[in-house]
Amino acid sequence: MTTAPHASINLGNGVVIGHPVFLAPMAGVSDAVFRQLCREAGAGYATTEFSRDEALLRGIQAQVDLIDLSLDARPAGVQIFGSDPDTMRRAAAFVMSHAAPDVLDINMGCPAPKVTAGQGGSSLLRDPDRAIAIVRGIAEEIAPTPTTVKIRVGWDDAHKQSGVAVSLAKRLVDTGARMITVHGRTRQQRYEGLACWDTIAAVAAAVSVPVIGNGDIQTPADVMHRLRTSGVSGVAIGRAARGRPWIFGQIAAAMAGQPVPPDPDTASRIALGLDHISRQIAYEAACVARDPSHARRAETTIHGLASGRALGHLLPHVMWYVWGTPGANEARRALSRARSAEELHDVLADFGARPDAYRHREEDRALATVRPASSDAVHDTADQREPTPAGH
Ligand SMILES: Cc1cc2nc3c(=O)[nH]c(=O)nc-3n(C[C@H](O)[C@H](O)[C@H](O)COP(=O)(O)O)c2cc1C
Repeated sequence: MTTAPHASINLGNGVVIGHPVFLAPMAGVSDAVFRQLCREAGAGYATTEFSRDEALLRGIQAQVDLIDLSLDARPAGVQIFGSDPDTMRRAAAFVMSHAAPDVLDINMGCPAPKVTAGQGGSSLLRDPDRAIAIVRGIAEEIAPTPTTVKIRVGWDDAHKQSGVAVSLAKRLVDTGARMITVHGRTRQQRYEGLACWDTIAAVAAAVSVPVIGNGDIQTPADVMHRLRTSGVSGVAIGRAARGRPWIFGQIAAAMAGQPVPPDPDTASRIALGLDHISRQIAYEAACVARDPSHARRAETTIHGLASGRALGHLLPHVMWYVWGTPGANEARRALSRARSAEELHDVLADFGARPDAYRHREEDRALATVRPASSDAVHDTADQREPTPAGH
């Protein structure tokens, strides 16, 4: 197999990303533990999911938690969003003093109405002067730390056709952005339809800084193809990494011209899930040891109610690990009833020890064609849904 062209990505100030395949930021998914697992599997870089500028400045704990890089391999970035240049600048200063990231990334891609209504996220694509003012302020504030930006290819198709991605990217770079990630969809597309890699390639051809292409990458072959044909310096993978951190190892093997390892079997996936839960428990304990203000979150997460934030994160991760394995529906049903991280661990371990019991229960359930409504009904519906964290 021919290897794809591959050079490290130099952002200046000593920030060098050695491998051009990134984990894309995903709210509710790319949390500290998942980033750590993806980096260990071979991802070259990751940023935190986005956090809101004002919430950081007000010290809202759940948002401040998001910028913690204590588990991250370096270099690592923090992503923030907002719309007011002065607030963004002050939030950037807060992030630098609180988390000391190697890179600060600005979100200009989020399509969620609660973000765009406040003129943040992808609405900045339609307000280039505001976007530039934000980048100018942050780049000045945090220099020499690199400022980077993540954009989409336009607000809607007509906006995309107007060439906004290229014109905005050029201005962002002239203002000081040191890397541009382009998600190849418009805001109108949200997460549906195909990413437009022609526009990504046009941005890569137009600016002097590294451009990272993003959208629809599912396999090592996709990565090789995009690196060879679109002129990007790297790619970022979002949804295809959910529950599959090992994809980064498969890609690294393909890029090195080695055979691509197969997807892990059920036992290995369960082992990964157990490891993930143990890491989350250890992470919460470390956060509390460092700062007692985390105690309440850790308590609800690990020992307490299912409404705890990190159990909320953990559950989808664990669901994704077992997705598609024999007995998974039954396992997911049992997992969704867990009320603490330890219980989640026990249920998953039980599935690992007795997969046939779950498979048989699943078969029995399938045979019972007509069932009266039961107290399980709520769980059943929740279990069958692909777990998609809210927020984006
Ligand atoms: C659940 C979810 C949350 C996301 N959160 C963020 C975010 O916080 N910041 C961001 O820049 N993009 C976010 N994105 C967009 C992804 O980074 C990525 O651009 C998008 O999913 C397209 O890549 P893909 O086709 O590989 O999934 C999110 C996407 C999803 C599905």
